[in-house]
Amino acid sequence: MSKSAKSFARKPAPDIAFDFSSGFGRGGITKALQNTYKKRLRLSLERVRREVANGELGFWKLPAVYGDKATLAPVRQAAKNLRSRFDNLVIIGIGGSALGARMLKDALAHPYHNELPDSKRKGMRLYLLENNDPAHFNALMSHLDLKRTVFNVVSKSGSTAETASQFILVRDILKRRFPDTWAQHLLFTTDPEKGILNKLAATDGIQTLDVPSDVGGRFSVLSPVGLLPALALGVDASKLLAGAEHMAQRCLSDSIADNPALAGALLHIIADQQLGRNMVVAFPYADGLKAWTEWFCQLWAESLGKAVDESGGEVHTGTTPIKTLGAIDQHSQMQLYMEGPDDKVFMFIRNESFGKPLAFPPKSRIPEALQYFAGHSMQELLLAEQTASRFALNEQKRMTYQVTLPKLDADTLGQLVFWAEAMTVFAGYLYGVNPFDQPGVELGKQFAYGLMGRAGFESFSRRIRGE
Ligand code: PA5
Repeated sequence: MSKSAKSFARKPAPDIAFDFSSGFGRGGITKALQNTYKKRLRLSLERVRREVANGELGFWKLPAVYGDKATLAPVRQAAKNLRSRFDNLVIIGIGGSALGARMLKDALAHPYHNELPDSKRKGMRLYLLENNDPAHFNALMSHLDLKRTVFNVVSKSGSTAETASQFILVRDILKRRFPDTWAQHLLFTTDPEKGILNKLAATDGIQTLDVPSDVGGRFSVLSPVGLLPALALGVDASKLLAGAEHMAQRCLSDSIADNPALAGALLHIIADQQLGRNMVVAFPYADGLKAWTEWFCQLWAESLGKAVDESGGEVHTGTTPIKTLGAIDQHSQMQLYMEGPDDKVFMFIRNESFGKPLAFPPKSRIPEALQYFAGHSMQELLLAEQTASRFALNEQKRMTYQVTLPKLDADTLGQLVFWAEAMTVFAGYLYGVNPFDQPGVELGKQFAYGLMGRAGFESFSRRIRGE
């Protein structure tokens, strides 16, 4: 893929680093075991490279496509318009249409962003209506000043029940409250051609942004799905995209030493298929990455949990992702991780710099029993805890690996996001399944439509009633 001449230049920014040594070699994945995957690995890499070269992998193109100033310009302009007219941006969306925005806010905005005064807040307040929980919906709607609020309905299909239900309620409220200007309080991010939102946008004069047709929800954060909220929040979207593009290039390398997505995928598939480690614990030591784990869990679970492979054979693949946060879950999950079944791979994510390290007071100002903190900082403590947890698990012969961020910013987050996406796709190809579909979620949706009386789904409600 050639990068446009008008792309954002990536200032020398530090790479995120990977240490897979406690998986490969020391951790039980022997060279001999690796060799049994050699052919599959080569074929998966060749396939990714071919699909990237042919422009067939929609998500892989996003950092370069939106890294082009001209392509990003309408998204930037849309965010600018919203920021000039409103204070609050509410995303109505679920799954891949919302988790990315939440991840970006948590990682890159001030932890109390929404509560900051206008003078200190870098962008709009951001809220999410994901679950169709009436209590949450009512609470948010009564909390917000609707005059100063715009709703971004994000749905590729336009028909997702949780999103559609909240949208029609919001639309109704807006229409009654602002009979002449209600449409200006809405922005749709949806498939450029298909779906009900497109039709409504045309009839009601509502602005739209595209979810590229060849990009599915959980791979869409680097499209307007995530970029609009990022820009509205005041996040440096070009830096995010530049970091992602840098990782996209790294992930095409044919050496597992240089290609962290290929290495991670190989580690996970061998751990699962040969060593009984069929879960992955995403274990960052940074509050800002808590929502990243939720985003990652959806990406990994929905992409790899498949009943059939690409030739139609029954396979039931996938490993179960688990959200964990260090150091908090040392006091919650660690006992199980250390002494329970050896069925997990631990993905530690270490952030090396938190801005202010927060030095502890000198000895003289600390109670005697706690004086071992003197001369250290809060950052040192968290990093020591991360090192200690990994070391302890390694000593128990549990399989760990580590991703190290020199610091958490838009560039490194872009790298982390793209690495996870690429690793998921490599893992899908190694398993021989399609990482881009989600046939397993359909049945539950159909039963729910049946129960809600949607035409065409009557047989599903009859099945639930046992008729
Ligand atoms: O990753 C996916 O494809 C899903 O999680 C979708 O994002 C989710 O179901 C929402 O779909 P839609 O964007 O069509 O409303």
